[in-house]
Amino acid sequence: MATERATEISQAQIAVHWKEEEYVRPTTKFVGQANLVDPAVTERFSEDHFPECFREYADLLNWSQYWHTTLDTSNPPFWKWFVGGKLNACYNCVDRHLAKYGNKAALIFVPEPEDEPVYTITYQELFTRVNEVAAVLRDFCGLNTGDRVTIHMPMIPELPITMLACARLGIVHSVVFGGFSGEAAGLRAADSGSRVMIYADGYYRNGKIVDHKPSADIAVALAEKEGQNVEKVLVWRRHYGQCLSTKPMVPGRDYFMDEVLKDFKRAKVDPISMDAEAPLFLMYTSGTTGKPKGCQHRTGGYLAYVTGTSKYYQDIHPEDVYWCMADIGWITGHSYIVYGPLALAATSVLYEGAPNYPDAGRPWRIAEQLDVNIFHTSPTAIRSLRKTGPEEPKKYNYHFKHMTTVGEPIEPETWRWYYDVVGKREAVIVDTWWQTETGGFLCSTKPALDPMKPGSTGPPVLGIFPIIYDEEGKEVATGSGKAGNICIRNPWPGIMQTVWKDDDRFVKQYYAKYCKNRQSKDWRDWPYFAADGAVGPPDGYYRILGRVDDVINVAGHRLGTKEIESACLTVPEVAEAAVIPVVDEIRGRMPVVYVSLKPGVSDGTRVKEEIVSTIETMIGKIARPKAVNIVPDLPKTRSGKIMRRVLAAISNTMDTGDVTTLANPDVVELIRRQVQGEGPVVMKEGPEDVKRFGESE
Ligand code: WTA
Repeated sequence: MATERATEISQAQIAVHWKEEEYVRPTTKFVGQANLVDPAVTERFSEDHFPECFREYADLLNWSQYWHTTLDTSNPPFWKWFVGGKLNACYNCVDRHLAKYGNKAALIFVPEPEDEPVYTITYQELFTRVNEVAAVLRDFCGLNTGDRVTIHMPMIPELPITMLACARLGIVHSVVFGGFSGEAAGLRAADSGSRVMIYADGYYRNGKIVDHKPSADIAVALAEKEGQNVEKVLVWRRHYGQCLSTKPMVPGRDYFMDEVLKDFKRAKVDPISMDAEAPLFLMYTSGTTGKPKGCQHRTGGYLAYVTGTSKYYQDIHPEDVYWCMADIGWITGHSYIVYGPLALAATSVLYEGAPNYPDAGRPWRIAEQLDVNIFHTSPTAIRSLRKTGPEEPKKYNYHFKHMTTVGEPIEPETWRWYYDVVGKREAVIVDTWWQTETGGFLCSTKPALDPMKPGSTGPPVLGIFPIIYDEEGKEVATGSGKAGNICIRNPWPGIMQTVWKDDDRFVKQYYAKYCKNRQSKDWRDWPYFAADGAVGPPDGYYRILGRVDDVINVAGHRLGTKEIESACLTVPEVAEAAVIPVVDEIRGRMPVVYVSLKPGVSDGTRVKEEIVSTIETMIGKIARPKAVNIVPDLPKTRSGKIMRRVLAAISNTMDTGDVTTLANPDVVELIRRQVQGEGPVVMKEGPEDVKRFGESE
């Protein structure tokens, strides 16, 4: 059955999306200056040389004590990397650059208001500021190695400064994306056991001041409700000496960082030499269940992996001006704005605001002003900049040598605009596929060595050995044109250590599905299940089809449908809720809500508004649904399971398939008419993730 479906899928896939694209080669100018030009690297990282190949990445770092065992597999799937080694992540990103690059820009901050000047933080200044903040964390907050701190901040330089200060002391940071709500931050603070939270008073977004401090009060209250006492809230002020928030500070709990820092001027805090396996940070992400999980990343393996991939795949040299337009609150920002680039002594640009503000020329003006030569963003940002300003890049005199796309599949048409217009046919593109869990890239072309292929992520990166399985665990042959679940056969240094405080969930979520032998200590028996569908074509350039679990990828950000459903169910009038993805021209996918109401509720409009505002409060504006449909009943199987796949088909005008075996088949046609109108049924072949939506249940 599953195999049959896989065949159907592949044919549909070929029909809808798959057209073999021509290869595009990097320019000789790019190749001439690239970090990775030796084709022998492939042999060095071949399976025969696994796991020792990853020494090449670890040797990019300074270790206070060199490791004795590259990979310890004695307790699968809890792999240990660079065992016996000690290092400090902050030292590697800051201190070790001082002798040669102390006077060089580490961070360049671009405020959203265009009339506010850009400012630069050199490595020397970064060193000074990180030390002072580390002193505050240690001496004012009483934090120790291993303690957790939740940081809920926007894109201002104090965010990476705070992260690095944590890393200096081995304090585990948990950064929550600034656009998430106070509730979402509070939930994460409680789960991680943070007794200190760090905030900013406010920031600029789309030309408006966002008052962020109220989120702190909500977060602390929610954490409290969950049993976690937050003793201190440190608040960075966006403008020195004035406050963007109207919310009062809570005496004895809230402190302005600039005021606290007065007592710590010129403080120096020695970096603590951390075990390679000590956790560096947590990053919460959505999965199959309602509760976000804390992906726990290790110090040594993670830093080695992001440094190595930044050097080889992002082609970062210390002389480069590198701008990744992601938010540090996501894994892309952690790995490829902060840790990877700074470990390589790059200059990393931080932009506060919206890419389109005040107009679609903004990113290209920034690129020109700062002479950015490496640019990194998501397909959603590219689509939206293209839509609002297709000719804008031509007006500005900047030259990228390298561009990255990440977070969602990029359609060849969008890829071409990125290549021709943004990159001016000079820049190489890497389409990098990876996940919060994986720490760094899993698939990408090697920029100077492999040709690009629009719409395909590319071959696996060095030291990664993927395999595609069908639902039964049978291998789907590369080149067969069939789709299946992409897995990684081997461990790698960037893989998360575990789910915070939940080892069982780690095993269940990522390894249980395809583990060949639970007793085995051989890594070959423990493939990592990525929860993405993929096709492996004959040339080995993987094509990622999207999530196979209950995650919706909105503008390259992961949202759990179960989290959104839980939010809907807190609205008293709602009886049942189902959330499904709908294809969106710009944002890739967006959530659509279906609810049935309790008997006797008449004011549907008010309930809809209530649902939207509840979702925004509990999760954040990013989860705002494209539509809320109030329906008489949700389609269900006879055992009472909500058929989300049928709803997804309706919202995307796709074929709903056979619904006669449902408990309430008639409701499907009713809902279809309500959503699509009275007209004839238009049937569309939809994308894979939408077609299979809800099947993981
Ligand atoms: C999707 C973001 C296609 C994928 C780094 C994955 C992609 C999820 C790509 C992880 C890509 C990421 N092409 N799909 N280049 N990159 N994805 O954890 O579905 O926020 O599982 O990590 O984004 O999202 P996350």
